[in-house]
Amino acid sequence: MTTAAAFVIAPPAATRGVGHPRTRWRLATAAAAARRPAACGPPVRAAHPTPRAAAVGAAAAAAASADDGGSGGGARRTHSRRVVLASAAAAAVAAALGGVTAAPRPAAAAAAAAAPTGPFVLPPLPYAADALEPAIDAATMTVHHDKHFAAYTAKLNAALAAAGLADVVTNDASLRLLLGNVGAAGGKGGGVVADPAVRAAIRNNGGGYVNHTLFFSTMTPAAKAAPPLVVLSEAIDGGFGSFDKMRAAFTSAATGLFGSGWVWLVVDTAGGNRVRVTTTANQDVPWAATPGLVPVLGLDVWEHAYYLKYKNKRPDYVEAWWSVVDWAAVERRYEEAIASAA
Ligand SMILES: [Fe+2]
Repeated sequence: MTTAAAFVIAPPAATRGVGHPRTRWRLATAAAAARRPAACGPPVRAAHPTPRAAAVGAAAAAAASADDGGSGGGARRTHSRRVVLASAAAAAVAAALGGVTAAPRPAAAAAAAAAPTGPFVLPPLPYAADALEPAIDAATMTVHHDKHFAAYTAKLNAALAAAGLADVVTNDASLRLLLGNVGAAGGKGGGVVADPAVRAAIRNNGGGYVNHTLFFSTMTPAAKAAPPLVVLSEAIDGGFGSFDKMRAAFTSAATGLFGSGWVWLVVDTAGGNRVRVTTTANQDVPWAATPGLVPVLGLDVWEHAYYLKYKNKRPDYVEAWWSVVDWAAVERRYEEAIASAA
């Protein structure tokens, strides 16, 4: 009998990129094992919805409907078979993420999952709301962090509860691993979460959580902003020819990106650790589409990031943002990325 436990791997750590092909394969294999009909033992199909299934289904629908404008979050499904499959996949993720097995929960606990408060919490701003003025005004900073970022965090927790993963995906490393395996929002072939509505909620709000975590932590008051340090400068020169050429490529991508999304300076850990510029739509993370990409700098070009001050003048927002990039933080992320790929 093949079980998910046969594919247990070490817990994901910062020492390996979460988009690493081998890690992705192992997690996907574990999930596939959970979905596969067992040669012996009870079937995974439930004849009737259980109280827990009903509660989880309701939470899934709530999580999907609460999605913050991402793609594909509208489907609502409460069918018991999907819930049971999601539970099986959750068990596989639990095994893959550290040998933990997701146990059935009492009905009371399942009901409580409709209003989860964790495991993720909103990181506090590392500076005062007005500290980045005039580049980022206090009103925009407050709404962006206290409302939008907070909403992504809360909805991520709701989605994880709906997937039965709130006790498993509890830190940034396991979340990044999950985001590399949730598949297309509402589409086919998603990795470890069977219900497409829950998968979309995790993709959109989990991406929103990690993307905004990076965004707010790689800015600093303009007076403290400094040019890239030696190691990162060499990487940028190697990837673009010069810092100015990198900045021009990044700016062009930011001003030209259609709709809502992100622009990234990434390290391609599967491609010789070269740095390059890329974009993602909505709240997608770079490594989901291209395993091995590790973002070291990201610019939020959703309108909520700049419209209060800059209105339709996104190029002005992009130009001002360069003055508050925390290059020391970016360099630390770069060094961590190349160390994890070694
Ligand atoms: Fe944002």
